[in-house]
Amino acid sequence: MVHKRAAIILAAGKSSRMKSSLSKVLHCVGGQSMLAWSASLARAANVSRAICVAGSDNDDVKEAAENLGLDVAIQKKQLGTANAVMAAKDILGDFSGSIMVLYADTPLIQIETLEKVFNSLEGEASAAVLGFDAREPNSYGRLVTEGDKLIEIVEAKEASPDQLSISLCNSGIIAFSSEEFDETLKKINNENSKGEYYLTDLIKIMCKEGKVSTFVMAPEHEVLGVNSRKDLALAEKSFQTRMRNNAMESGVTLRDPSSVYFSYDTIIERDADIASNVVFGLGVKISRGAIIHPFCDIQGSFISKGSKVGPFARLRQGSFLGENAKVGNFVETKNAQISKGTKVNHLSYIGDAEIGENCNIGAGTITCNYDGYKKHKTIIGKNVFVGTNSSLVAPIKIGDQAFLGSGGVITEDVPPGSLALARAKQINKIDWAYRFRAAQIKRKKSE
Ligand code: UD1
Ligand code: MG
Repeated sequence: MVHKRAAIILAAGKSSRMKSSLSKVLHCVGGQSMLAWSASLARAANVSRAICVAGSDNDDVKEAAENLGLDVAIQKKQLGTANAVMAAKDILGDFSGSIMVLYADTPLIQIETLEKVFNSLEGEASAAVLGFDAREPNSYGRLVTEGDKLIEIVEAKEASPDQLSISLCNSGIIAFSSEEFDETLKKINNENSKGEYYLTDLIKIMCKEGKVSTFVMAPEHEVLGVNSRKDLALAEKSFQTRMRNNAMESGVTLRDPSSVYFSYDTIIERDADIASNVVFGLGVKISRGAIIHPFCDIQGSFISKGSKVGPFARLRQGSFLGENAKVGNFVETKNAQISKGTKVNHLSYIGDAEIGENCNIGAGTITCNYDGYKKHKTIIGKNVFVGTNSSLVAPIKIGDQAFLGSGGVITEDVPPGSLALARAKQINKIDWAYRFRAAQIKRKKSE
C-alpha cells in the first residue's frame, strides 16, 4: 500500500543561543541553509506536502521557505513544539496519511534514516520516533521503552534521576498518522516546568490509549541539533567528514582529506586527484582523472577530464575547462571558457572570456573586461599564442592562429593568422650604458 506523506518542518524557535541577526535555520552547512537541508530531505522522502512553521517575527525564514517551494504556516507565539505542529493544521487541511515532523536545526539526517522512520510508522505503528544513543544525553528527551515499544518520551527537565540515566534519546524526528491531529495532539497540555506544549507528550497519551509507538535508531552524528555557533561548527565538521569519505569511497584520491572542503552539491568523478588545501564552493563538477594541485579555491566551475588546476588557482563562477586544459599558479578565472588543450599557466586574470582549443596564454595575461560601468567579452580563437604580459581590452576578438607579441595592450580585433604588436618600438643605443656608467663613476670620485 502506498502511503501519502507530509512533512512539517519546525523553524519558529527564537535562535537565542545562536546570537545572530539571521535566523538560526538560515545558517549554512556545506553551503546550504539548514532549512534547505530539511526541505530537500522532505522532498527525497516523496512528501506530497511540505510545510514550514515560522514565527511571526521570522520574515527571513518565511521568505526563504517560500523560495524553497515550502508552504508556510505561522506560529504566533512560541508555546512549544506541539503548538508549532498545530500551527500547520489549517494548511494541511484534510490531508490523510503519514506526517513527519522535522526540526529545521538538524541538518545532517540522511534519507535512508528518515525512510526507516516512515517504514516503521507505515508498518504497524501509530507513531514512530527517531532515537539515538547519546554520548552526552544532557538536555535531550529520553526514550522510555519496553522491548521494541516506545512508552513515553520524558523531557530532561521533567525526568526523574532514573530516567535521566537513560542514554537512548529523542532526535526530535517524530512521525504519526494524520488522525492523531484530532485524536491526540489536542490533548497535549502545558502542565510542565517550562509551561510549554511538548510534542513529545504525544507518545505517553497514545500509549495510554493502547496505541503502539515504535522507535528506530540513528547514528549520533546525523542527529546533531544546531543551537549555537559551536554546534554549527560541529555540524560543518561532520558534513565535511561525510563528503570526504564518500569521495574516497567512490574512487577519488584525496591527498590530505582533512584539508579539502566540499559543498553540498560538489561532484567529483572517480580517479580525480585532489591535493591538500582545496576548497570547493557551490556548483563544482570535477571530471574523471582531473588533477587539482594544492591551495585552490574553486566555485561554480566545470573541470573536464584530464585537466589540471593550480597550485594556487582561483576558479570563480562560470569557469569551464575543456579536456586536458591547464590553469596554473596565481591564475584567476571567472565566466571563462578555456577549451580543450589550452593552457593558462601563470599569473593571469581571465574574466568574461571564450578561448578556443590549443591556445597558449602567456604569463601575466589580463583580460580587461570592465570599463568602470559594464563588463565586456574577450573572444580568442583556436591555436592562438598570447605573449606574456598582454592586456586584452574587451570587447575584443582574436582570430584563429594569431600571435600576440609580449607586453601588448591589445585594443583592436586581430585577424586570423596575424601577428599583433601593440607596444613601443624598441631602440638600442649602442655603447650608451658603458658611457653612462663611466660618467657616473667619474662624477662620484670628483664629489
Ligand atoms: C526537542 C525535543 C527533545 C529532543 C530535542 C532534540 C520537545 C518538547 N523536545 O527539545 O525531546 O531530544 O528536541 O534536539 O519537542 N520550535 C518551534 N516552536 C516552538 C518551539 C520550538 O517551531 O514553540 C522549533 C525550533 O525552531 C526547533 C524545534 O522546534 O527547530 C525544536 O525546538 P527546541 O526548543 O530546540 O527543542 P529542544 O529543547 O531542543
Ligand atoms: Mg533544540
